[in-house]
Amino acid sequence: MSTANGQQTIIAPSILAADFSALGAEVGAISDAEWVHIDVMDGHFVPNLSFGAPVAKSLIGKTEQFLDVHLMIEDPQRWVKEYTDFDNVTFHVEAAGGVEESVALARALRAAGTKAGVSVKPNTPVEPLLEHLAEFDLVLVMSVEPGFGGQKFMPEVLDKVRALRERIDAEGLETLIEIDGGIGPETAVQAAAAGVDVYVAGSSVFGKEDRNQAIGEIRAAAEANAGA
Ligand code: DX5
Ligand code: ZN
Repeated sequence: MSTANGQQTIIAPSILAADFSALGAEVGAISDAEWVHIDVMDGHFVPNLSFGAPVAKSLIGKTEQFLDVHLMIEDPQRWVKEYTDFDNVTFHVEAAGGVEESVALARALRAAGTKAGVSVKPNTPVEPLLEHLAEFDLVLVMSVEPGFGGQKFMPEVLDKVRALRERIDAEGLETLIEIDGGIGPETAVQAAAAGVDVYVAGSSVFGKEDRNQAIGEIRAAAEANAGA
């Protein structure tokens, strides 16, 4: 569903919170979600290590869902070529080395046939990116410090979401705003009102017995408050 201003409601469960020994079945259990969010961590850019390209790639062809890769790694320029078979690849502006470098990397990803996202950590401002939003298919606003699931949502990052929404709507762009960290039905209400399109949810989906029911609850909360 989308609002008059084009705001969408897309749910992207993060498999970081899934049972890795049964990844195929876990993805099968989130069939009501449009996207699957895949968190790659290198133990350097963030203090945690998750998995790399071979594990991520094992999902290609196993589902029709949009595969959304979130690279929390240093030197993304070196590694993105491993990920161009995914639907979207998001890297961090802090790891890319700045805005100019991020625009160049996004262009390279798009030229390779994938969508390109750029992410900002909670303390990284979004203003320097506002002039360049047409270069990115999405902007991922982190609402926790990246590295771990199950952390508490930081509502102060919603100012960045509002600034992005305003600029995207004013310019009539299709760039999506994604939020990641501490999202569940309650925090999705605030995120939707601020203008988020894509809701990443790890523990609030995979921590529940019925994953699709949990997805439905986040979706209902978001749709009822989009553009509020
Ligand atoms: C954190 C990851 C998130 C994480 C979210 O660094 O980028 O995608 O899995 O987990 P929850 O939803 O539990 O905060
Ligand atoms: Zn993530």
